[in-house]
Amino acid sequence: MTPEPPPRKNTRLSLFRNWISLAGMVVGIGALFSFLLLLVLDAIAKVSNPYVSILTYIVVPAFLALSIVLGFIGAWRESRRRAHGSEKTSLQIDLNRPRDRRGVVAFIAGSVVFLLVSAIGSYHAFNFTESVTFCGETCHKVMKPENVTHDHGPHARVACVECHVGKGVSWFVKSKISGSYQLYAVAFNKYPRPIPTPITSLRPARDTCEECHWPQKFSGNLDRTFTYFQSDASNSPYSIRLSIKIGGADPSRGPVGGIHWHMVVGNQVEYIATDAARQKIPWVRITDPQGVVTVYREPKFTNDISRYEIRKMDCMDCHNRPSHRYVSPDRAVNLAMELNQIDRTIPWIKTNAVFALTCKYDTDDQARDGIATALAERYPNDPRIRDVIPVVQQIYRDNFFPEMKANWSVYPDNLGHMIWPGCFRCHDGRHKTEDKKLTIKANDCNSCHTILAQGVGGEMEKLMPAGQKFNHPGGDLDDNPTCNDCHNGGR
Ligand code: HEC
Ligand code: HEC
Ligand code: HEC
Ligand code: HEC
Ligand code: HEC
Ligand code: HEC
Repeated sequence: MTPEPPPRKNTRLSLFRNWISLAGMVVGIGALFSFLLLLVLDAIAKVSNPYVSILTYIVVPAFLALSIVLGFIGAWRESRRRAHGSEKTSLQIDLNRPRDRRGVVAFIAGSVVFLLVSAIGSYHAFNFTESVTFCGETCHKVMKPENVTHDHGPHARVACVECHVGKGVSWFVKSKISGSYQLYAVAFNKYPRPIPTPITSLRPARDTCEECHWPQKFSGNLDRTFTYFQSDASNSPYSIRLSIKIGGADPSRGPVGGIHWHMVVGNQVEYIATDAARQKIPWVRITDPQGVVTVYREPKFTNDISRYEIRKMDCMDCHNRPSHRYVSPDRAVNLAMELNQIDRTIPWIKTNAVFALTCKYDTDDQARDGIATALAERYPNDPRIRDVIPVVQQIYRDNFFPEMKANWSVYPDNLGHMIWPGCFRCHDGRHKTEDKKLTIKANDCNSCHTILAQGVGGEMEKLMPAGQKFNHPGGDLDDNPTCNDCHNGGR
């Protein structure tokens, strides 16, 4: 009798030697490859973007996990097979056999194609998530107001992510979490209309705005002329030319002072807002570079500030609409009349155009028809109105978004003080120190800007560099006027 051959030591041969585990390995290499590629792409990209990190840190690792699972499934099946006494491993390649040779060639070719496809795929996915199309148009309906206003604003060429995400890992993660929530909210129609602001998770301005706008740099004045048409029969024009004292914040680059004084590097301005929209600010604290603290407070505001959040003032407290400006009907019609897009000789046209814009509409189509009807009805015998209607309709399309309930009246603009409290949230003459000796400056109309000229025609040619007293077309004003009590942008 020939002796039994000694039993083959199956355990020596790796359990991972099987087709399933091998396939897992290829998927794994593909995923690793994509991961590295995305990492490099993201590192050399100008700004990082939450959706890329969803790819890099969620989708790709999911494939990596899949490859490991495949590997173990293969190994587990293999060990079961062996336990059932199967002698051979399932994967035995003999390159002398034509069938095996073909198999190996096919496998290698398949793997190469897979790697290529996953690399190209990740590259394209990367480019797509970077694009404005992805941010704005993927959620087209939801983001339409922000998209349209962004396109018309001074930052039209600045990508959404540059302000909303910025650089760095921790904001990656944060925006990834809120990004995932947003995807959910849109998918299940759970998003609020209008989208509420301030965005509490918005990244501090120093990491976004200051990437492009160097706070040390501001200096000097900005010369701007505002032109209005009043709500009377002859749409009387009125202009005011202001030299706005933007000022500077860096003593080595120019005099420190003016409006950007709040941003002086060594200075700290902090405040408490008692409402979510940050429109009511009863408490302000300044810490100067020497550490001297001054607190200004409204008369009735509490001494116990412990239950309030103290916010450090930054760019966004004034420039909260750098990109999405929903122009008020009043202002938009003024501009169209100034540019002669709307014929200013049509009686009451200012009032009627603003009226047509402020009627209530539920959809874009309803607004288009409603504006046409409202204006046509008021001027049944004036053919000039035909040229006005499309201009007013365009103003509506650019600034009103009924489906998202977004327009000038729901988003405060903090930059001035005409139709929102803006600067007058603090500069209203009611914020005083405990001993009442100091008040935040308010009633001097020539402190933040100089009124160089005002009026019509020749009056606009007489410039007064020292500034002049405001000549209010709407009659005498009291000492600390609250402009937005009467001016709401929609009269
Ligand atoms: C120049 C910087 C900047 C750019 C570029 C920018 N945003 Fe904004 N965005 C802001 C600021 C600032 C706010 C207001 C935040 C606040 O009030 O808390 C805002 C607000 C929003 C809001 C809240 C609703 C609203 O209308 O205020 C959405 C949604 C939004 N942005 C989406 C976008 C999209 C989409 C893009 C690209 C098409 C974009 N943003 C580009 C700075 C920017
Ligand atoms: C990627 C660069 C970039 C970022 C980030 C950026 N801006 Fe700008 N900003 C610009 C450019 C470019 C202009 C246009 C300059 C011009 O027209 O002369 C501009 C213009 C402005 C203006 C003048 C607007 C006007 O009406 O003329 C203001 C104010 C401003 N930015 C504020 C901000 C604020 C606030 C942020 C942060 C939320 C911000 N910017 C983020 C590049 C940027
Ligand atoms: C106290 C409110 C306030 C703060 C805080 C503030 N700004 Fe301004 N800024 C203004 C005003 C007001 C103007 C001039 C008005 C205008 O643009 O029409 C202005 C003008 C600008 C301009 C346009 C300058 C020009 O020459 O056209 C830029 C850019 C700017 N600010 C960026 C910033 C940045 C960045 C920060 C944060 C570091 C900041 N601002 C903080 C109120 C502020
Ligand atoms: C959160 C409160 C707050 C807001 C909002 C605010 N300021 Fe001020 N501002 C102060 C305080 C406090 C001072 C220092 C007290 C003073 O000089 O009256 C000050 C000082 C100033 C100064 C004098 C700087 C100097 O040269 O000494 C100017 C100019 C100014 N602010 C303009 C503005 C403008 C314009 C806006 C709106 C775009 C604005 N501020 C919004 C709190 C605020
Ligand atoms: C705390 C600083 C500050 C004080 C005080 C101040 N203004 Fe202004 N004012 C501004 C800023 C900032 C703007 C916005 C400039 C812009 O939009 O570019 C502005 C804009 C205006 C405008 C143009 C309004 C518009 O948006 O159409 C008028 C008019 C005006 N101011 C009049 C006055 C009068 C009158 C007073 C005195 C009662 C006064 N201001 C006091 C800061 C101030
Ligand atoms: C008591 C209400 C009231 C207050 C407060 C008020 N205004 Fe007026 N304002 C009017 C009226 C009414 C008119 C005339 C409206 C018309 O014919 O269009 C007017 C007209 C104007 C005009 C001419 C352009 C236009 O829109 O008709 C300007 C500019 C103006 N006001 C600026 C201001 C500023 C800046 C402040 C704050 C310093 C202010 N107003 C405060 C009631 C007010």
